[in-house]
Amino acid sequence: MRVYVGNDHGGVSLRQPLLKWLGEHGHEVVATEGPAQSGESVDYPDIAAVVCRKVLADPGSYGLLVCGTGQGMAISANHVPGIRAALVSDVFSARMAREHNDANVVCMGERVLGPGLAVDLLAAFCAATFAGGRHARRVGKIEAIAAAGDGGPAAATRS
Ligand code: RB5
Repeated sequence: MRVYVGNDHGGVSLRQPLLKWLGEHGHEVVATEGPAQSGESVDYPDIAAVVCRKVLADPGSYGLLVCGTGQGMAISANHVPGIRAALVSDVFSARMAREHNDANVVCMGERVLGPGLAVDLLAAFCAATFAGGRHARRVGKIEAIAAAGDGGPAAATRS
């Protein structure tokens, strides 16, 4: 995977084991955004926006965003049309975010997760692939909602 990584001051410590795991498992960290050492305070929406723009400009790539809870990064990223950001804290959801939701950004919270679990979450996310089929239709509806801007067009269909 080609991965763009971003963190705010709340994600400085967790970024290190995640970068190490990516490097050791054949993934390419294309760029990092945000402080590499504690002390510099930054605003998580600024970091999320830069990483999301880079992911969208590089089809097939992914984003990894870390802040204190992961919430601010996920909320910010999900305001960018074309980005499907998953905030993960359990391995099953990390896998399903790719398989069912075609997530292209994964978000984590340093103040929520230990480094061991965070690495397992990243490994599950990276190992999974999008299942397509009915899930592609649903992901298409997510994009239609984003394009409408007001939640309008998703029609009720079942299967
Ligand atoms: C920074 O203090 C903190 O608010 C941020 O890292 C994140 O948790 C926001 O969602």
